[in-house]
Amino acid sequence: MYSTARWLFGLAVAIAFQATSVAWAASPEAVHGQHGMVASRSALASQVGADIMRGGGNAIDAAVATGFALAVTYPDAGNLGGGGFMVIRLADGRVVTNDHRERAPAGAQRDMYLDASGNVVAGRSTQTHLAAGVPGSVAGMLDVLEKYGTLPRKTIMAPAIRLASDGFVLNGDLAEQFGEAAEEFSKHAGSARVFLKKDGGRYRPGDRFKQPELARTLELIAAKGKDGFYTGKTADLIVAEMKRGGGLISAADLADYKSVWREPIKGQYRGYQIYSMAPPSSGGVLLVQMLNMLEPFDIKASGYGSAATIHLMVEAERRAYADRAEYLGDPDFYPVPIAKLTDKRYAVQRFSDFDATRATLSTSVGPGLAREESPQTTHFSVMDAAGNAVACTTTLNLSFGSKIVVEGAGFLLNNEMDDFSARANTPNSYGLIGRVANSIEPGKRMLSSMTPTIVVDSEGRTRLVTGSPGGSTIITTVLQIVINVIDHGMDVSDAVGAPRFHHQWMPDRVVYEPWGISPDTLKILQSRGHTFVPLPWGRGIGDANTVMRSGDDLLGMSDPRNRGGAAGY
Ligand code: DON
Repeated sequence: MYSTARWLFGLAVAIAFQATSVAWAASPEAVHGQHGMVASRSALASQVGADIMRGGGNAIDAAVATGFALAVTYPDAGNLGGGGFMVIRLADGRVVTNDHRERAPAGAQRDMYLDASGNVVAGRSTQTHLAAGVPGSVAGMLDVLEKYGTLPRKTIMAPAIRLASDGFVLNGDLAEQFGEAAEEFSKHAGSARVFLKKDGGRYRPGDRFKQPELARTLELIAAKGKDGFYTGKTADLIVAEMKRGGGLISAADLADYKSVWREPIKGQYRGYQIYSMAPPSSGGVLLVQMLNMLEPFDIKASGYGSAATIHLMVEAERRAYADRAEYLGDPDFYPVPIAKLTDKRYAVQRFSDFDATRATLSTSVGPGLAREESPQTTHFSVMDAAGNAVACTTTLNLSFGSKIVVEGAGFLLNNEMDDFSARANTPNSYGLIGRVANSIEPGKRMLSSMTPTIVVDSEGRTRLVTGSPGGSTIITTVLQIVINVIDHGMDVSDAVGAPRFHHQWMPDRVVYEPWGISPDTLKILQSRGHTFVPLPWGRGIGDANTVMRSGDDLLGMSDPRNRGGAAGY
């Protein structure tokens, strides 16, 4: 009798709890703080950034500390041997961006990935020493710290050095990813030494993972700054690795590398200011171009997830990505028509053939099957109470880059050269097509899709700091988050958690997340001529670790598609 009553009471509580929690939110809670907030793919790295702010650093200090920590705790994409972009808004309202994208070595040639018959040699631009561009991350992070940080380099780098030398306990997520790449790692002595156990066995969740060689490289950088990487011992080790594996990066390439301060791409959308990354990323230009095409339409009224809204957004995406293939590349080598592409009048003209009832089929340039997306670029977002904000996207390109660790230096080399157009109109790893604007030239930066973005409200306060990995899907992921916040009024957890879709002109299809589009909505869209493909890869589209301001609260949201973390106070 007593136990039945208890059981009934328990059931009632469970039902009440369930009903309340369903009413609260569809997505996991964001992390709240008032003073500083970091959201990244690694909870350990986010904590490093939050601790730096708690210890008196600003958001820029925290971003650089998080960046170095990610090179240790998320080696899939966090890096010393890769490159990235940072969009920074300072407390006084100035916005600057740092381009630390990799460059083609001086010995690179336009046709270096083609065989004698002019065909692309599979794997050469992704799995060999020739795949690596000259790394930019160390130069970028140190330049950013020197210009806008407040704490000494050694303080900023100490947590990363500690995590590398003392090690950290591997969670299932990382151990699984090491396992997936184990066979590739075993082909290179330097990589096997880091990512496999001494007996050649695989790491398991719960194992302590130490990286003594990486710790020594980080110590050299902490002591000597850029010279600790681009000259001296680390540079010698990179050049020796290149000699061993037939790569091109020379001592002169390393000594010549410089990060570049670029004007941000600016846009306005429904009274908000949008700041994002300029070429050599295509992200900012395409984001603003798509927002410009969408602004004349009442997306709030057509509603999240409706056939009308999806149709509209897909048509904007189709047109913007077609422009990407033709016009976008490194602006130091090719005259990218930035002003024209981001002009609202151009958007009106470009969208003038939009038909609300029919899909405009992408012209046939060859199908180009997009490969499975791997989540191995990474984005992190930082805000402090003073109003400084940093959006940083960084990468080795594919999962663990070339999977080649520089022997003795303990870090992975990127395979970013694959982001060039190896041959005109031939899709790269993401099915993206490019032409002369993105052809290989010595010293040129390969075109990126990375879209670190800051959104400022009409009162001049930073509202949103966001970005994502996901190759070609990065730009449409950021677009959807901006629209979720501005048009649909979602809070940060729903804006980041909401299902996503993606179209990139070629191949002419919409990829969508499981359960993301209802069957009757799909039917309507198919009847308008769209082709829909359920997500052909596992983890969803993107990994948009985002920070948003709500009143005086800073809300940190690590994308629920993955196992990152936000930390703040
Ligand atoms: O710069 C780019 O656009 C690519 N290298 C990004 C790669 C990426 O996002 C991989 N992760 N999914």
